[in-house]
Amino acid sequence: MHIHRLEKIWLTFGVTMLVVFLLVLGLSAFTMGMDTPGAGHSHSIDPAKVDKTPPFDKPEIKRIGDKQYEAVMVAYAFGYSPATLEVPAGSTVRFTVTSSDVVHGFEIPGTNVNMMVLPGEINQVSHTFDKPGEYLILCNEYCGIGHQMMFTKLVVK
Ligand code: CUA
Repeated sequence: MHIHRLEKIWLTFGVTMLVVFLLVLGLSAFTMGMDTPGAGHSHSIDPAKVDKTPPFDKPEIKRIGDKQYEAVMVAYAFGYSPATLEVPAGSTVRFTVTSSDVVHGFEIPGTNVNMMVLPGEINQVSHTFDKPGEYLILCNEYCGIGHQMMFTKLVVK
């Protein structure tokens, strides 16, 4: 079979680009530490015993250092516990969240905080809140009839 010279060039170009894209994708996944939720740093817990498993038996926001807070939260249909969160401006908050029933979301619009909350997994994300205000925390995974009512807020003073 005779392949035209231009076709050969085009085929070579196409295959080269494919290899380059796959390499870039593969390398960036490794170097940027992309991973499945919970992998590596994971501790799994029994989703049926969330209310008896520390630290989720006492959902709360607590100070863990200078301008450092940890918010231990439980997502459930349809809300978050604890219901109110408050930190001083400039605080870094580490959200440690699990779900006691189904998959929920945990998003604070306008920030990098956006994760899935999987039952039985300890899901974590940190963010520094420099600007005072009220930050909406909402569920962005459809979780049932009350999904659109599932939100809470973080007050930064
Ligand atoms: Cu929880 Cu949608």
